[in-house]
Amino acid sequence: MPDKTKTAWESVGLDFSSVLDSAAAGLVLRMLAQRDPDTYAHSERVSRLVQRIGEELHLSPDDLETLRIGALLHDIGKISVNLGILNKPSKLESYEFDLVKNHTVLGYEFLQNVPGLERFALIARSHHERFDGKGYPDGLTGENIPFLARIVAIADCLDVMLNGRVYQKRRTARDIILEVSKNISTHFDPQVVNALMNVWQSGALPLEEAESELTE
Ligand SMILES: [Fe+2]
Ligand SMILES: [Fe+2]
Repeated sequence: MPDKTKTAWESVGLDFSSVLDSAAAGLVLRMLAQRDPDTYAHSERVSRLVQRIGEELHLSPDDLETLRIGALLHDIGKISVNLGILNKPSKLESYEFDLVKNHTVLGYEFLQNVPGLERFALIARSHHERFDGKGYPDGLTGENIPFLARIVAIADCLDVMLNGRVYQKRRTARDIILEVSKNISTHFDPQVVNALMNVWQSGALPLEEAESELTE
């Protein structure tokens, strides 16, 4: 009979007792960088993007810090997902997609259990929720999705479009803006899209940079 007291993290055999002490965030991020440099680099870029969007939204210094560090940790649950699945160049089987999706819950449980990192847990859990309720893991809608997670959600997608993935080509700036606009109120919070557009218009997003690399 399965042990219901086990967290999802324990059930995949990862022991995080070694990161229970101080400097937890740094240690956890080193762990991620060593195990999965691509996800670590993605997390760093997402963190830089949310910083700009958060400033545009006039977040308090505390919220900005939670947002910035939460973005660094948002995919931490992926350290429990098989790298072969994470980097699979072809379409995932549905059971593989379920394993990937579970990085949200694993990340949440992990961060909830590391003293000092609890305040980042909801960002890890909810960054794949969608404004229309069709996201995961909880199918939350609109303002029920933690606000900071709504900001990370858009920066997360933006980074994937800007930099591509094994399963997805890089997109042009025009494509990206069109895609984001199409998904206002379905995937993304309109208030956050608005802030992103303002940051973009001010020239503080690396969209043109990405585009010129694409056409080289
Ligand atoms: Fe994620
Ligand atoms: Fe991500």
